[in-house]
Amino acid sequence: MAKIALLPGDGIGPEIVAEAVKVLEAVAQVQDLSFTWETADMGGIAIDRHGTPLPEATLAVCRSAAGVLLGAVGGPKWDALPGDERPEAGLLGIRKGLGLYANLRPARIFGPLEAASTLKPEVVAGIDILVVRELTGGLYFGRPRFREVLPNGGMRAVDTLEYTTIEIERIARVAFKAARGRRGMVTSVDKANILESSRLWRETVTKVGEEFPDVELSHLFVDNCAMQLLRNPQQFDVILTTNMFGDILSDEVAMLTGSLGMLASASLGGEVGLYEPVHGSAPDIAGQGVANPLAAILSAAMLLAYSLDNPEGAALVERSVESVLAQGFRTRDIWQPEDRLVDTKTMGNLVVAAILGGGVYDRQNHSL
Ligand code: IPM
Ligand code: MG
Repeated sequence: MAKIALLPGDGIGPEIVAEAVKVLEAVAQVQDLSFTWETADMGGIAIDRHGTPLPEATLAVCRSAAGVLLGAVGGPKWDALPGDERPEAGLLGIRKGLGLYANLRPARIFGPLEAASTLKPEVVAGIDILVVRELTGGLYFGRPRFREVLPNGGMRAVDTLEYTTIEIERIARVAFKAARGRRGMVTSVDKANILESSRLWRETVTKVGEEFPDVELSHLFVDNCAMQLLRNPQQFDVILTTNMFGDILSDEVAMLTGSLGMLASASLGGEVGLYEPVHGSAPDIAGQGVANPLAAILSAAMLLAYSLDNPEGAALVERSVESVLAQGFRTRDIWQPEDRLVDTKTMGNLVVAAILGGGVYDRQNHSL
């Protein structure tokens, strides 16, 4: 009986995590498994209840679980707090605390959504990109990091961008290994024409690449990569990059697929895998029941695959999502005229129904 830790967090987090739980329960029913759940506070809700975005007890719950499913953190209520007391600090703390250095963000375009992208359908057709983002180093964690008042009365703020060979080697290996199970291409993204840490990144990735002669390695500067993603995203297989560049590029990649509401992620390499949608807490639509739960549901699929060694369960969830989309059901963020608009819960229920029905859409009878 696998225990799954739930960290619903803030904003739309609780609504979408609830749908992901329903979906996992449906998988358990079909596969004759059982899960136990333990919910813990993280982010703004933890600040309100415990005075800190990441209580020790929450980390303990995560460590005792087979996998962690996270919703989202943050909101205007906590925006005025200093950096290390904000909800986002809880997210960084959990990544660092559990040693989750490898963030996988797959962006695959579901056929039925090709028209939902802001790019032309022929540009995004069939894209299948995996962003491998380094998650516990770089600009997000470098020290020193401070603010000071200058003699002239102005302020000075400092962040530090650093990488060690060990940090680069281990994330590079994750990317190369992932590429082996895909189209065998890694594009490493840096700013080696300017940044010293990027020059070390490029050298180290190149060296690690020699261990993987079967994988084709290329390098791109981050500005060029941002441009290529819009010009010709089909050229990419695995994108390997730093924490900061990965944050930015993964949002861009997500939009290729039609909506940030579709993109799942896995954070691995540490004590327990953490799974979360790439989108944020969307406080503007929280509580309205209109959020897209599919990124959370697809994150739950990644949990099945990576933490529970259940690729069949993961594939069943993905197939079911695809089939629900194929029937034209859409939440507001991906809705277009002629689609069937549904709310958060209905979308979850439809995926559950598809799973219980085998996840295969019967095109002839328009049913599951
Ligand atoms: C993400 C988010 C986080 C990040 C924020 C919420 C701290 O944007 O997971 O991409 O910057 O890593
Ligand atoms: Mg981000």
